[in-house]
Amino acid sequence: MNLGKTRAMERKSPIFTPPEGMPRVERPSPEIFAGTGEAGIYRMLSDFYKKLEKSEVRHLFPEDMELASRKSATFFIQLLGGPPLFSQTYGPPRMRQRHFPFEIDEKARQVWLQLFLETLEGAEEKYGFPPEHLEGFRSFLREFSRWMVNKGG
Ligand code: HEM
Repeated sequence: MNLGKTRAMERKSPIFTPPEGMPRVERPSPEIFAGTGEAGIYRMLSDFYKKLEKSEVRHLFPEDMELASRKSATFFIQLLGGPPLFSQTYGPPRMRQRHFPFEIDEKARQVWLQLFLETLEGAEEKYGFPPEHLEGFRSFLREFSRWMVNKGG
């Protein structure tokens, strides 16, 4: 993938850091993967990216959303207790840094977060997501997504 090559150089605004500092984030439970397996997480990210595709942050993402969803899924697989597919394939996660090429403001974060939270409705049935770990995962998304905001306003 061409991450950073074109869209990175088009960046117009300086990188923003929240004045209150970066949030502390608690990792979601590694037991989640035992419920979802790889297939459940691929389905979850595929559903999420279909929503992103119809959203107002669509312009930030590459043309092939299914491919982008699979790359993202490898990160969530390792985050939620599965094998380290993302690191093995793409190197260290460094998520804030990987999002620098894209101008992400608080508004974009809200859209992203809202759509992920919607995706999680019925997650036990759809993805085998252990319900006792849903709230922990939601709070991870709420906090960790603040790290990706790199543009003020
Ligand atoms: C919990 C917070 C988030 C996590 C865990 C996350 C995770 C990821 C991952 C794993 C990737 C693939 C990284 C790569 O291409 O090397 C990615 C890409 C991306 N994310 Fe996020 N993200 C988060 C928040 C956000 C937010 C708030 C936005 C704003 C809309 C966003 C926009 C993007 C964009 C534009 C890409 C590039 C897609 C591509 O070129 O394939 N992300 N994200």
